[in-house]
Amino acid sequence: MSFIKIIIMTKLSVNINKIATIRNARGGDIPNVVQAAINCEKFGAQGITVHPRPDQRHITYKDVVDLKKVVTTEFNIEGYPCDEFMKLVLDIKPHQVTLVPDPPEALTSSAGWDTIREKEYLQTIISQFKAAGIRTSIFVEGDVEMVRNAKDTGADRIEFYTKPYVDDYENDREKAIAPFVEAAIVANEVGLGINAGHDLNLVNLKFFAERIPNLAEVSIGHALISDALYMGLETTIGKYLDLLK
Ligand code: PXP
Repeated sequence: MSFIKIIIMTKLSVNINKIATIRNARGGDIPNVVQAAINCEKFGAQGITVHPRPDQRHITYKDVVDLKKVVTTEFNIEGYPCDEFMKLVLDIKPHQVTLVPDPPEALTSSAGWDTIREKEYLQTIISQFKAAGIRTSIFVEGDVEMVRNAKDTGADRIEFYTKPYVDDYENDREKAIAPFVEAAIVANEVGLGINAGHDLNLVNLKFFAERIPNLAEVSIGHALISDALYMGLETTIGKYLDLLK
């Protein structure tokens, strides 16, 4: 009997929210968010991620419209599915929408969906994106039950909330990765694609990507944009891509 092993290359999607945060500190258009996205793609990023919030404190709804015109790789919009967000995403029709459970005023995403308690709600939301032909991903923790139930929501993918892995990485990386590997095996079994993000960086990314079977995509913002301040965007993106090879 012969087996065919399919090797998935993990894509790097750069979250450019931080570029907008710096711009918004002064108003005006420096640094330019659209140019940053174009540069990320030029330097090899395979996707651009944005997380518009209703108060538009970093990425604005206008940015999302402008970015849609220039992004040639995968455009991923993440956020909490409030009415304004739903309308924006359904108008823009990105390649992927990533749903996060954090309330609009939250500083950053800090938990995954409870896919048991919120199953019907997610089914209702996800069916609207599916009808518009938009791939859906939902943010979940590295938890077997949350992943198993994610399948019933109709989502195409899950995105692992990786902060708990990152927090424990220095202490005991085997222990830190274990629940994510178990949950990833279930995702593979039930046919859910796997994305991951939050606090990934040049130190902890490689081990995560090596251990998670069929990791389709990582979205990285804070650390990558910070690294770019020291090393420049081109060198930084090159270093992240090297870790995903
Ligand atoms: N994924 C989700 C759902 C997020 O909310 C964020 C932060 O905006 C990220 C990934 C990226 O996290 P970080 O900025 O720490 O790389």
